Amino acid sequence: MRAIAIDGPAGAGKSTVARRVAERLGAKYIDTGAFYRALALKAREAGVSADDEEALARLWAESEIALEGAGGAVRIRLDGRDVTEAIRRPEIGAAASRVARHPAVRAAVVARLRHLAEREAVVMDGRDIGTVVLPEARIKIFLTASPEARARRRHAELAAAGYAVRFEDVLAELVARDRQDMTRETAPLRKAPDAIEIDTTDKSIEEVVGAIVALAEAQHQAF
Ligand code: DC
Repeated sequence: MRAIAIDGPAGAGKSTVARRVAERLGAKYIDTGAFYRALALKAREAGVSADDEEALARLWAESEIALEGAGGAVRIRLDGRDVTEAIRRPEIGAAASRVARHPAVRAAVVARLRHLAEREAVVMDGRDIGTVVLPEARIKIFLTASPEARARRRHAELAAAGYAVRFEDVLAELVARDRQDMTRETAPLRKAPDAIEIDTTDKSIEEVVGAIVALAEAQHQAF
């Protein structure tokens, strides 16, 4: 299995770091949160409650969710429609966290993710990649940062995308979402015992990317 698993809470820098590591190593970047977000968006549009496990699992079975393109240009398609920007809305992040609590939903998404990782070298980011999706990955990273640093980054990203949101609201949403992701019964967010923890609070993206690439190169059997 040629895979790097990157887990951690919201706003720790996972997607930026994972995307750049994948580019540097010539691997495919897989944003696993995008699958939960796309399902949450579809549920919202279809009037399906984020509490209705059975209806959500049915909705997943009826949906076609695909990641297209490579590197910085990955687009997410839901039933043929480009939802790359739509799934980034803050309320969809919160809904995705609720949708992702359900064992039936997780089982279906995990099966899909494993299938993707069988075909090519991947860098996958999420909450349960090192623990559940790819426990056999040779390189596992757990990215963290202080809640304030994570909220600052998320706030800047949202502002750049044109969303006028208050910093306090971003921080509160992030803390609530982490609590939900860490306390759910199925595949909660936690560090795999063999994962290397990197605190990104005072590090640049390039520093973190460089450290992970160096790890991969040191164990070149992984790639
Ligand atoms: O990484 P993200 O913010 O796009 O993820 C959105 C939500 O999806 C997150 O709050 C929890 C859920 N998620 C998950 O449970 N497992 C994953 N591997 C990825 C995301």
